[in-house]
Amino acid sequence: MTSYRPTWAEVSLNALTDNVKAFKEHIDNNCELMAVVKADAYGHGLLECAEVMIEAGANRLGVAIIEEAMELRKAGIKLPILVFGYTPRAAVQDAMNHDITLTVFTEDVLKEIVHETEQRQRSMIIHIKVDSGMHRIGLKRSVDIIQLLEQHASPLVQVEGIFTHFSDADNEDPAYTEQQFDHFLSVVEEVEKAHGTIPTKHCCNSAATISFPHMHMDMVRVGVSLYGLYPGEHMQESIPLHQVMSLRTKPVMVKTVHPGEPISYGRSYDPDNPIKVATVPIGYGDGLPRSLSNQGEIVVNGKRAPIVGKVCMDQTMVDITSVGEVREKTEFTIFGESTEGHIPLQEIADQLNTIHYELTCQIGKRIPRKYV
Ligand SMILES: Cc1ncc(COP(=O)(O)O)c(C=O)c1O
Repeated sequence: MTSYRPTWAEVSLNALTDNVKAFKEHIDNNCELMAVVKADAYGHGLLECAEVMIEAGANRLGVAIIEEAMELRKAGIKLPILVFGYTPRAAVQDAMNHDITLTVFTEDVLKEIVHETEQRQRSMIIHIKVDSGMHRIGLKRSVDIIQLLEQHASPLVQVEGIFTHFSDADNEDPAYTEQQFDHFLSVVEEVEKAHGTIPTKHCCNSAATISFPHMHMDMVRVGVSLYGLYPGEHMQESIPLHQVMSLRTKPVMVKTVHPGEPISYGRSYDPDNPIKVATVPIGYGDGLPRSLSNQGEIVVNGKRAPIVGKVCMDQTMVDITSVGEVREKTEFTIFGESTEGHIPLQEIADQLNTIHYELTCQIGKRIPRKYV
């Protein structure tokens, strides 16, 4: 979509490259780096980010759903791609045609994979998902995995990987993650005893990759931190990261608003004194949370300007009385690299009681990504 509005999400490809390289340095040479690019690369742009991450040294790509993997394949990306989530039986043919690795944790999908491979005499790679304590998807017990693999064994289906996902690796207390890791290790040991060696064993997300090097195994699956976001503040010393996305806009109208002239829907902000107000063309329809109404701040001329009144679907009003001169070309930074005066995404996330990457994921399609 052509975009004429002066509102954009700046995506720093240098920062992305530096973050990938920082992780490559953080892990051993014999450990692979899977770059997680699901949800449009956490809102940063799937293809643009994938290409840069590959160039910077990512060995594989991870996505949530097969549609994302197909988009990567259609763009000509040849790296191994793992789909983490459930893939419906109807999509197995597409996975095979596009050389996409599927995660298996149910009998119906494995049955379909075996059926398709035998029908077409083509091989396929799978990874098995172990539920070590997240209680989302996966099989908990080694006996169930062994039984599944024995009942549906086929020389055309290669179990290349086995993995689990941590639910609490950003916690400063490592106890639950250690417990999940131990559970995973014991399942892997039993499954390998029965089935033979599985070459790619993996369990670490960003938080675990940063905090628990002894859990790296054959591969780490890093998402949020490749985009420069720390899963926990206590990790900042462990690896240097740079926030990749900055959200910016410019004013479309500046005016003085007097007491008795309430701003925006519901008249929730009525100034005590005359104030200078800028209207910026971004709203909750673009992913700027409405809960920032009368709460959030936007950086203008290196100073913080409060959002006044309710955030509308497409527009937001900002009190610019104390930020100096504002012109048509003045940039308003909603979040960005936390240099002086900028607002770290973490601060907004804390204010809204959410996580920073929910915010980047929610930046809508109407906002063009500018790669710099
Ligand atoms: C299975 C799996 N692995 C890895 C990741 C990457 O996690 P993070 O973004 O915390 O690095 C995710 C994301 O939620 C995931 O679902």
